[in-house]
Amino acid sequence: MKVTKAVIPVAGLGTRFLPASKVVAKELFPIVDRPTIHYIAEEAWRAGIRQLVFVTASGKGAIEDYFDIDNGLELFLEKKGDLERLRMIREISRAVEVHSVRQKQQLGLGHAILSARNFIGDEPFAVLLGDDLVDAKKPCIGQMMQVAEKYKAPVIAAFRVPEDKIERYGIIDPDPRPVAKRVWNVRRMVEKKRIDPPSNLAIIGRYILPARIFDILESTQPGVGGEIQLTDALIALNQEHQILAYEFEGDRYDAGDIFGFIQANLIYGLRRPELKPRLLALLKQLCE
Ligand code: UTP
Repeated sequence: MKVTKAVIPVAGLGTRFLPASKVVAKELFPIVDRPTIHYIAEEAWRAGIRQLVFVTASGKGAIEDYFDIDNGLELFLEKKGDLERLRMIREISRAVEVHSVRQKQQLGLGHAILSARNFIGDEPFAVLLGDDLVDAKKPCIGQMMQVAEKYKAPVIAAFRVPEDKIERYGIIDPDPRPVAKRVWNVRRMVEKKRIDPPSNLAIIGRYILPARIFDILESTQPGVGGEIQLTDALIALNQEHQILAYEFEGDRYDAGDIFGFIQANLIYGLRRPELKPRLLALLKQLCE
């Protein structure tokens, strides 16, 4: 399960962020001063993945531009002596090799991943959803790659959610005996909004998958919401090969959701020494 490539689906319509997402991809909305997609590419890069393929759609071309080298801007910053910003801009545009494929119709996450088939070929690969932020000392996808390599198995990221939030997520039914600390055999996966969820272990947007998933996706019929669901293909894969769920170390923010986006901005903002005192003062004032 050696992983060298990652698929980053960013073709979704982002309806929760309308009207803003009508003209700017939600994956480009900034968390403080970097687009969400910057943190996600950085996570893959820190885990040793150098080849990224973005699954894009019409109107999302700026995502590729973001990772391109902008000679004019670099020259401008150099002349101005703004070396810190120059370093930042240079770093991300040179760190990763960016490719893109188009998902011509938004037929769901499973379909988006299938669109990257030719780029991935026959290798196991990582998937990082373009609007799911994981804040961790050790990159979440790197933690998962270690588990996949150790157990030679597909891995999905999981985290515990409070009872009242369970209905928002796909949920894992784990074997009661863990394989190891934080590692569970997946018995079943159930879709969002199930009345009787088997646990509070929710599936989030990080996966290590074998190329076999493409064959399965080819024949996966539209499911919930009329979309080709990755979860349906994972359920079929789990019949052939034991899938593992891994409770990653770190915090997760859903930047594709308005509350999650504001939450991430606040938390990442509070980490900036130049912003922290003013933000804390503002919060205190608002609480009075
Ligand atoms: P979401 O579930 O957040 O869907 O997709 P969405 O359509 O983008 O947003 P809402 O629900 O309408 O607000 C999770 C990830 O999968 C990608 C999205 O871009 C996002 O990064 N995605 C989703 C695709 O690439 N293609 C699809 O057909 C659906």
